Amino acid sequence: AQKIAYTAVVITVSDRGAAGEREDASGPALVALLAERGYDVVRTAIVPDERTDIERELRSCAEADVALVLTTGGTGFSPRDVTPEATAAVCERMAPGIPEAMRAASMQITDRACLSREAAGICGRTLVVNLPGSPKAALENVSAVIGPIAHGLRILR
Ligand code: MTE
Repeated sequence: AQKIAYTAVVITVSDRGAAGEREDASGPALVALLAERGYDVVRTAIVPDERTDIERELRSCAEADVALVLTTGGTGFSPRDVTPEATAAVCERMAPGIPEAMRAASMQITDRACLSREAAGICGRTLVVNLPGSPKAALENVSAVIGPIAHGLRILR
């Protein structure tokens, strides 16, 4: 029997990216990592640091029954950083072990890892995982959890 790949969406959350003032390097880096891991990346989007825009994207992924959504950006302390709040607003159940593991692994790389407020949770049958904004930080964080996430998706779906 052929193994069906899990679908995935990558959402870049960035005011400057959405305005076309900055090229998005994190989104494509995450798409490449997901493809390498066998995920079927069905959509990418760039939205500004606005809760309504982020929540709309996340809800439409859940409506489309996407298996995994990775967001990048908007997890820090800047007043505009609201990605974790948007994620918590749309998820019925949070999965705090995922960000706990990402921050623990990332603290071995930089002690600023504790400044990422990244969240993860489940919206319908969709797992949403926040990542920091820089390509380096996004890849370092997701690499710590992408293995166990596959097991989580098998149980969720
Ligand atoms: N995690 C890893 N693994 N590597 C990093 O370089 N940068 C940190 C943190 N997590 C970093 C990291 C920094 S400096 C910040 S401010 C937070 O992620 C939040 O990033 P964001 O505001 O771009 O979401």
